[in-house]
Amino acid sequence: MTLTFDPIIQFYDLQPEIDDFRTSVLQGLTQPQKAIAPQFLYDKRGSELFDAICTLEEYYLTRTEVRILQENAAEIAKLIGDGVLIEFGSGSSQKVRILLNAAPQIKTYVALDISKQHLCESCTNLMQDYRQLETIAICTDYMRSLHLPHLPSLQNQYKVGFFPGSSIGNLEPDEALTFLKKTAAILESGGLLIGVDLKKSREILEPAYDDAQGISAEFALNLLARINSELGADFNLDQFSYQAHYNPIGRIEMHIVSLKEQVVHLDGVEIHFYEGERLRTEYSYKYTIAEFQTLATQAGFQPKCVWTDTEQLFSVHYLTL
Ligand SMILES: C[S@@+](CC[C@H](N)C(=O)[O-])C[C@H]1O[C@@H](n2cnc3c(N)ncnc32)[C@H](O)[C@@H]1O
Repeated sequence: MTLTFDPIIQFYDLQPEIDDFRTSVLQGLTQPQKAIAPQFLYDKRGSELFDAICTLEEYYLTRTEVRILQENAAEIAKLIGDGVLIEFGSGSSQKVRILLNAAPQIKTYVALDISKQHLCESCTNLMQDYRQLETIAICTDYMRSLHLPHLPSLQNQYKVGFFPGSSIGNLEPDEALTFLKKTAAILESGGLLIGVDLKKSREILEPAYDDAQGISAEFALNLLARINSELGADFNLDQFSYQAHYNPIGRIEMHIVSLKEQVVHLDGVEIHFYEGERLRTEYSYKYTIAEFQTLATQAGFQPKCVWTDTEQLFSVHYLTL
């Protein structure tokens, strides 16, 4: 008789407190150019909607990055060796499966994400399929707190960061530099495998972030629903729309737009919107390969390999320290 044990998730809960969310939202809604940090888009529903976006025809990013990872998996596996894999913003932990299949020698995977329930479910699913893999889930806002637990399996190991999805593009260039420096500090002498979306025409970019079915719009407007349900605000979602616009400085700008003059209440504060006023939910910066390599070099990384697709839509970089 063979006894089987269900692996138990190692879970560290550093999720931001509700008061941090409240403070960030209030601050963002009371400044002259209203903006809320993109990490707050991801509650359980937000994560589900993001997964739906990844399957859209217009959203070339996911399928292109997946193809690049699949086509170069053997080479990437050699670079990772038997290192510990640490994914920042792990979402559904789907892309990492390509690496785990190509590099079965990887013993430990650390998944960091702000979206707690989605993180737990994704890591539990992963553990069902990769029973030998030590899986460590950390719910955290990596912009505020980027630390690894002191565990024997993380000490004196070659550490490889994995940052797919072009999530680096959500950061302003100075934030991206700070983030890369922080990752360099925790990766020590390891490497970073990072997906970076490339500059391209407005005709491809704008539909990718504002699809015909309206899932991108639902994803953005879910932020208002979340603020209502978690913080007790009274946004009327029907009075807002969504817009994604390419700014030729090299970024997509995503906004929620007020359809009329209106007042929203949050925590005793009256928040005024004029008709057409915009609330920024996200930027998505696009890079050339050379621009991204310059940024990575400033953060202390050395570009080692870069892979792209035949249409030069997306790039995956391996950087070393
Ligand atoms: C664009 S999705 C990418 C998901 C997945 N890595 C992929 O490539 O498909 C960004 C992911 O990062 C998480 N995330 C965004 N900002 C974060 C932050 N500041 N701290 C931790 N997780 C964050 C979100 O919850 C989401 O799962």
